[in-house]
Amino acid sequence: MRINPSIGPDRARAVFDEELQGITTDAALRDLRHRWLARSGSWVAGFMDLLAAAAPAEKKALGRGANELKRHVEQALGDREAALAATKRPEGAVDITLPGRQPSLGFRHPLSLIREQIGDIFSRLGYQVLEGGEIEDDYHNFEALNMPEEHPARDMQDTLYLATPVPPPAVPPPTRGRAPRTPQPLTLLRTHTSAMQIRQMERHDPPVRLVAIGPVYRRDNLDLTHTPMFHQVEGLVVGRGITLADLKGTLTSMATALFGEGQQVRFRPSFFPYTEPSAEVDIRCIRCQGAGCAMCKRTGWIEILGSGMVHPAVFEAVGYDPAEFTGFAFGMGIERVALLKWGVEDIRLFYENDLRFLEQFGR
Ligand code: DAH
Repeated sequence: MRINPSIGPDRARAVFDEELQGITTDAALRDLRHRWLARSGSWVAGFMDLLAAAAPAEKKALGRGANELKRHVEQALGDREAALAATKRPEGAVDITLPGRQPSLGFRHPLSLIREQIGDIFSRLGYQVLEGGEIEDDYHNFEALNMPEEHPARDMQDTLYLATPVPPPAVPPPTRGRAPRTPQPLTLLRTHTSAMQIRQMERHDPPVRLVAIGPVYRRDNLDLTHTPMFHQVEGLVVGRGITLADLKGTLTSMATALFGEGQQVRFRPSFFPYTEPSAEVDIRCIRCQGAGCAMCKRTGWIEILGSGMVHPAVFEAVGYDPAEFTGFAFGMGIERVALLKWGVEDIRLFYENDLRFLEQFGR
């Protein structure tokens, strides 16, 4: 808006004061200064024209009034400029009036959830829950489990060997049972949690009731269902009068706790060197409840673990009397349980750390 200098200094001052009221930014202040003080087009410039055209008798009073207004405008603009600067945050200062940032709550990894659930199921049943070392020797991983060096069962698992020996345990196990054939057994990454059966029985007399849960390693390439590292849970119960019926009852309650009420299990004869008899165990297909679907390949059953009655040779290796004690054992893949339970189709998803995947399983 162009200010008409002929309205006189007093009214011009009132107009200026009112305009100044509304100024809150540096840019608006710059604009106001320009419109009142610039050499051309401003109130001052217009006033100069007016002064030049005025009658000589009026010039003096006109000049004084104009000077006063100009001083007032300069002073007021300067004051407002200082006031605006004072409200600015100094460089690097913290604005304590901002709302705080909400920390986002993390999610448990699905495999941790299953692992914990299995641990809970068995600790409620009075089992010890162990993990055990991932570095093992071939005595505990194979030989004591009735797989001597020349045993073809060793070919069942492709093993990752290590160059350095396992450090000896701080407290050596009591010497009983059979000694390793070679004084310095080979070092390897455990191929199954079954090694924990031997470790525990070497140190403790029966009764034994344990689950060992943790990572195992095999020379496998990554694909939909294989990873070179995965997790297993091993179960072992040893005592007097333990039978296959105890195994079946235990596995039925585990399947029910993991997959829901009314689970059935089915035993299929199989072979493991450390159990006799051995069985592969199936559960009712959790997707079609046995009607037959793509997931169970129309059989109505899904294989979930290997198991059996502990082989007498295993008891002999740890110095238990097979005439006095019997026991059952089982081994199950944790990833397999997770794939089935949540209908995940690619095992690699568990290891890719994509939050959009990991956030779907709960805390
Ligand atoms: N160790 C077997 C595997 O890795 C699983 C297994 C089968 C464990 C039978 C057992 C058992 O304790 O009795 O595939």
